[in-house]
Amino acid sequence: MHPLRRPLYAMNDDQPSQEAPINAAALTAHLRTRVLGRTLRWLPEVDSTNRLLAEEGGEAAEGLVVLADRQTAGRGRMGRTWFSPAGVNVYLSVLLQPRVSVAWLPTLPLMVGCAVARAVAALAPAVPVRLKWPNDLLVHGRKLGGVLCEVLTTAEHESRVIVGVGCNINLVPAMVPTELAAIVTSLARETGQRFDRSVVVAEWLNQLETAYAVWCEQGLAPFLPEWAALDALHGRWVRVEQLGQPPAEGVAEGVDSDGLLRLRQPDGSRRLVCSGDAHLV
Ligand code: BTN
Repeated sequence: MHPLRRPLYAMNDDQPSQEAPINAAALTAHLRTRVLGRTLRWLPEVDSTNRLLAEEGGEAAEGLVVLADRQTAGRGRMGRTWFSPAGVNVYLSVLLQPRVSVAWLPTLPLMVGCAVARAVAALAPAVPVRLKWPNDLLVHGRKLGGVLCEVLTTAEHESRVIVGVGCNINLVPAMVPTELAAIVTSLARETGQRFDRSVVVAEWLNQLETAYAVWCEQGLAPFLPEWAALDALHGRWVRVEQLGQPPAEGVAEGVDSDGLLRLRQPDGSRRLVCSGDAHLV
């Protein structure tokens, strides 16, 4: 039987299995959503929660969540892999079916970034989380989490999108490979505390459902002030690596209403960048 059809526990189960690191009771107690996460599959290990949901979620209803304790081939943006050790972090994918214009879809990842930042702020208010376009979560310049949105199907007012979120929660420096040691962080590293991942997942789904409802009605506009306040790149000189194109360089001047990054180039001209990976120069 395929793993998606053989959950270790579903939200309706009274007891999570002994080895489940996600506690169903704690998750249920904190979950305030109507749709997102009301059907949830937890797996001890999968290659990629996004991959599994993409493969098996074709007919599923909006809100289905796949959650894994460990990923063996977690996917990052720009074809990278996502470091996904067992027992410490959150690796979650949720199926959305936004009934909005296809033209709005490129702005969805930015809304998701805001929702994750809100969840972090609610769980760890002292942690100064920032957003790096298009949707990295940074703390003191180190990566706390990332979002990978993958469109399954598009149709005007009827698309299906997988939103994958990876967030480092109880990861401690000893677990981090040397090549990532200087660039990643976790909530535990920033606060000296351990977090209940069930509560983290519930809070994140709560924030996403609220933000998603606003985005479906009004698009990105209501999120722009928040983005500007959390923007890790604003006023900084950045290089944006773009797949199949030469990098764009300039001073970052925020995000426009279509979710594009505004750059002031060395010759003073302005340029809009629609996708890529931004680095401080
Ligand atoms: C990034 O490169 O910043 C995006 C990382 C997204 C990782 C998450 S973990 C859960 C979901 N499943 C995946 O394979 N990737 C996303």
